[in-house]
Amino acid sequence: MWKPSQRIKWKSGPGRLPDPIEVKNSRLFTPLHNGRLHLRNRTWVPAMVPWRATDEGFVNEDVLQWYGRFARGRPAAIVVEATGIRDVPSGPLLRIGHDRYVPGIRQLVERVKQESQGETRLFIQLIDFLAIRRRPERDKFLRRFLKITPELKDRLSESSDDEDQLREHLCTLTDDALEGILGARDLESMQQGYRERVTDTDQEHIANLPAVLPGLFADAAKRAAGAGMDGVELHFAHAYTMASFLSATNTRTDGFGGSRENRLRLPVQVFRQVRNAVDERFVVGARFLANEAIEGGSTLEDVCYFATQFAKAGMDFVSLSRGGKFDDAKQPRVGQAAYPYTGPSGYECMPQYLSDEQGPFGRNFRDTQAVRNAIHHAGFDTPVVGAGGIHNFEIAEKVLQEGIADVVATARQSLADPDWVVKLESNHASRVRICEYTNYCEGLDQKHKQVTCQLWDRVALDEPGIRKSRDGKRRLVAPDWTEHRD
Ligand SMILES: Cc1cc2nc3c(=O)[nH]c(=O)nc-3n(C[C@H](O)[C@H](O)[C@H](O)COP(=O)(O)O)c2cc1C
Ligand code: SF4
Repeated sequence: MWKPSQRIKWKSGPGRLPDPIEVKNSRLFTPLHNGRLHLRNRTWVPAMVPWRATDEGFVNEDVLQWYGRFARGRPAAIVVEATGIRDVPSGPLLRIGHDRYVPGIRQLVERVKQESQGETRLFIQLIDFLAIRRRPERDKFLRRFLKITPELKDRLSESSDDEDQLREHLCTLTDDALEGILGARDLESMQQGYRERVTDTDQEHIANLPAVLPGLFADAAKRAAGAGMDGVELHFAHAYTMASFLSATNTRTDGFGGSRENRLRLPVQVFRQVRNAVDERFVVGARFLANEAIEGGSTLEDVCYFATQFAKAGMDFVSLSRGGKFDDAKQPRVGQAAYPYTGPSGYECMPQYLSDEQGPFGRNFRDTQAVRNAIHHAGFDTPVVGAGGIHNFEIAEKVLQEGIADVVATARQSLADPDWVVKLESNHASRVRICEYTNYCEGLDQKHKQVTCQLWDRVALDEPGIRKSRDGKRRLVAPDWTEHRD
């Protein structure tokens, strides 16, 4: 993963430990009742892909245990990982693109209700993503995948119609020479692997995205509701299709790109169709970027506009993330696909302890607060979920007291200690296991390995009945905690 050049070491810590009265009177433990959103307090586990589903995208016992373990710590809400809305193969990522996925998702709902004793609301994040291919070997790309166009022939000063001969000639050229000959997009496909974009409107299925996506999202939301979920979070963040529509890099000319009004059009249509597809009590919110953290990305003004329009359209919450784009991703090795969390914008999404003078904790706070202020100035009070390096009571309380957000999302802190909320509530604040922001978990995610936390995955490996990683070296969920045992 990319790291800021300063490499300053930051240390997370428990902060000031609250006494039971402070906990009781805190904003963090104040319930939230806003429209359809009812939370027992302000804690929230945001979406995290753990690479547990079956290869066909079904819920299995490992998925049930992963979410069941978070639920035992009784956060107010859990958002189930990014779950694909299409019925297409996508490896061990959860899917909801067909009714056959509903029974598994229903089991997941039941497990979370049971483990949290009905105290945790369960939402599922709905995602659409475009095709991405592995980085090919250079000569294989030139021989097989490169499209020989008249423009390319011009640049080569070749008039020959013998494509094979042209391709062999290209193979003899140096990388520098190829950079002057191939178009930018071909060069990218060769160096990073081919990746579809929402601006590829010359391809019918990309041109048609605005026609098909609202229906796909709405059908997926209907399935989620049918399975008993409390709501859905529309994934409009990071490197995926909907975020790419919102992005300032979206130059589509069909009314769904260009101006910020046009970039917002499809996301609002998706939201409306989802809202209409589900019953009145079902929660519908979205996660999007307070800052794309890439050159030429949307401005804060754009994002404030998106947020107020989502609020106006009637979203039940907005959850703000940061970065995580393909635009600045590291070049993958041959045979691997580019990953959106490997460049500077990836760092902004999941900052780690080696950082710059700003540090890894709360890098998204300023933008999150600006977005929340914009929502309020527009006359709405849609709850804002904030995230990024929140790992103790003191920081969480500050986020709420200072009006940065209304709900505190903790991804890695909840992974490090799924009981951290219940420990605070039961006067065991000193026993919270604090995330160290090493990004060991993210490293596993990048390799598509089952995600665990280094603070607990080698503990009590001989515990009867526990499930382990495929190599048998790591336990898959954190050991249980009781008031009498750490
Ligand atoms: C292993 C892992 C998987 C993640 N998967 C998702 C995801 O599916 N959807 C999403 O919106 N964010 C995802 N994230 C980002 C987190 O939700 C969160 O925004 C980010 O980690 C910053 O919060 P934190 O500092 O509390 O960890 C993931 C993060 C991690 C560490
Ligand atoms: S592995 Fe554990 S301690 Fe390290 S960043 Fe992930 S959750 Fe935090």
